[in-house]
Amino acid sequence: MSIEKSKTPMFHYGITIFLAAVLFVYVFSLDSKNPLDRLRRDWLGAKGPGNTTEEMEELCTKNLVPPQESHDENFVRMIKKAAMDDKTVILTDVNEAFSAPNSMLDLFLESFHNGEDNITRLLDHLVIVAMDQKAFEKCKSVHHYCYLHEDIGIDLSSENVYMTKAYVDLVWTKVRLWQLTLEQGYSFLFTDIDVMWFRNPFRHINVYADLTIGSDRFYGNPEDHSNDPNTGLVYAKPTRKNIEVLKYWLEARQRFPEAHEQTVYYEIRHELASKFDLKVQYVSTEYWANFCQLQKNFTKLTTFHPCCLVGLEQKIAQIKIITEEWKSYKSNNLKS
Ligand SMILES: *[C@@H]1O[C@H](CO)[C@@H](O)[C@H](O)[C@H]1NC(C)=O
Ligand SMILES: *[C@@H]1O[C@H](CO)[C@@H](O)[C@H](O)[C@H]1NC(C)=O
Ligand SMILES: *[C@@H]1O[C@H](CO)[C@@H](O)[C@H](O)[C@H]1NC(C)=O
Repeated sequence: MSIEKSKTPMFHYGITIFLAAVLFVYVFSLDSKNPLDRLRRDWLGAKGPGNTTEEMEELCTKNLVPPQESHDENFVRMIKKAAMDDKTVILTDVNEAFSAPNSMLDLFLESFHNGEDNITRLLDHLVIVAMDQKAFEKCKSVHHYCYLHEDIGIDLSSENVYMTKAYVDLVWTKVRLWQLTLEQGYSFLFTDIDVMWFRNPFRHINVYADLTIGSDRFYGNPEDHSNDPNTGLVYAKPTRKNIEVLKYWLEARQRFPEAHEQTVYYEIRHELASKFDLKVQYVSTEYWANFCQLQKNFTKLTTFHPCCLVGLEQKIAQIKIITEEWKSYKSNNLKS
């Protein structure tokens, strides 16, 4: 008995050391890139938020572009330099396909030079977010403020057909950049790169409203949420309310997994109105024109967005048509 008693503590130490060694080997020798993640996953088990590392990572990239401090700082520095003296910045984003020669980026910049209201001066306040290296190189060759959006972990370089995963991720990235801009106390006018500018769209932004948004289809009352929104042009003031609204909008993505940001906005717009008392100005398609509800009154036309058309070639063709019409309108008006 006495021999048994003296053995017991040694035996326990042995077991403990053995178990610790097994745990150590298990945690640090297996295939997981991050042993702590593996541990966390195993201990959280089925009750955990996402059962595997992959799922956790996927949840992260799906819900929010993860904050990247250093990249964010560079972006913030750039918007501060580009902003107008009332702390407003114009934002757009572009990928390789849309920045190819004679593609959207060229057409977009050219539209300012064909415009009225001296809108070329607005280019001094435009930050172009390049989604890949090629778009970044192209951007730098034609524009002053180009920001390379790195490390979002997906290939954003191809011509993104509406609703492919890469396209959906791209549109959500822009909401993250909007959020960052507002958090710095800057207001923004976001424009899709395929929106052609003929006059100054700030004419149609309403100070009363929290957000001013374009319309796919406009039914007459600018404050009515039954207008079909188009987020190809969006203006927001840097209010606390708007920051909360964008947060809510980003989080709502979980409820509509495959949807892009415009669709999610459409789904939650009444929630936003009641939860935040959100005031939105929807701009008539007479001014911020598009191809869904085509109106071509050149005395009113401010911008043209070839939405409701699928494919880059089709969009470019329609842009070229309306640009020629605009030019002849302008030259006719000069004559008279
Ligand atoms: C985690 O595992 C549980 C039980 O096996 C399962 O019901 C649940 O759907 C899993 N969660 C995820 C995010 O896959
Ligand atoms: C546009 O700029 C020119 C000079 O560059 C100036 O003469 C003209 O008044 C400006 N027009 C407007 C509407 O600001
Ligand atoms: C175009 O807009 C102008 C200015 O509002 C208006 O006077 C004119 O009647 C419109 N033309 C058409 C064809 O609707």
